[in-house]
Amino acid sequence: MKAAKLRAGSPVKPAPAGGDGFDAQLARFNPDLLKALHILTREGQINQDSRRKFKQVQHLLQFITPLLDETLERLAVQAQPRGVCLVDHGAGKSYLGFMLWNAWFAAHGGQVIGIEWREDLVRQSQALARRFGFEGMRFLQMDTAQAGQAGELEGPVDVVTALHACDTATDDAISFGLARAARHIVVVPCCQAEVASVLRQHKAQALRRTALSELWRHPLHTREFGAQITNVMRCLRLEASGYQVSVTELVGWEHSLKNELIIASRHPDVARRKSRERLTQIMDEIGLNDVQGRFAVLD
Ligand SMILES: C[S@@+](CC[C@H](N)C(=O)[O-])C[C@H]1O[C@@H](n2cnc3c(N)ncnc32)[C@H](O)[C@@H]1O
Repeated sequence: MKAAKLRAGSPVKPAPAGGDGFDAQLARFNPDLLKALHILTREGQINQDSRRKFKQVQHLLQFITPLLDETLERLAVQAQPRGVCLVDHGAGKSYLGFMLWNAWFAAHGGQVIGIEWREDLVRQSQALARRFGFEGMRFLQMDTAQAGQAGELEGPVDVVTALHACDTATDDAISFGLARAARHIVVVPCCQAEVASVLRQHKAQALRRTALSELWRHPLHTREFGAQITNVMRCLRLEASGYQVSVTELVGWEHSLKNELIIASRHPDVARRKSRERLTQIMDEIGLNDVQGRFAVLD
């Protein structure tokens, strides 16, 4: 146990020279941790599903670690003697949190807090963090919608993440990040059913009112367009609230259908009026006023 604790607490090893392949990436993590997360089998093998999960999280890590470096530097410049605090919404088994800890936080200190409403998963993650001695990791059992009011989450929050947090949990993560003026908000949305259901509800009126409704007339299109316009509105909401946003693919489509990565970094000085206007116009034109609150902009 002690050996596992020590190895897990040490920073990720650099990839072997010239080794940018899958095995080299895998070798950079503590194998005991990967086994405990069931990414590796007890024999140290990896199956197709775990391979996919590992690749997804590993890719996300590559996007997040420069943001953590930047945040840490900024804290040093501002003479704020504390580590980076990252809050992960809809943490599930906390693959992301544990791999981030192994890859970055173990070397730099700070906090990783996972929010998850399933008690079994929260207990499992708490036990794993204890076993490996990851003292800066905490797991809170709560609805992501409650995170903003949670006393346990007082204090500065620098980075907010949500990887495939179901439905509106991604929007809760964004609301939390905006309210806490997080430096970076990184989400890979899952399915979002709420907007599609509003489109479905008002479809007959929309078909009479605008030719644009052809975009969501067929049921399959209602779901797909609903998901796409949700992500568009998430980006506009972030921009209108003072963030610079980039949208990219997380991994190749063969690995995951829910593959859109939205990275938002706080720049309060950027112009935001146009994004706000566009967001309002889109909601008016498409008939989404019922969900206005979900995309509320921070003043
Ligand atoms: C698809 S899993 C993704 C888990 C993890 N982020 C990952 O990528 O491995 C979504 C997780 O979010 C949790 N979840 C969904 N909605 C939630 C909410 N409103 N509050 C808290 N947890 C939520 C679910 O219980 C589930 O564990």
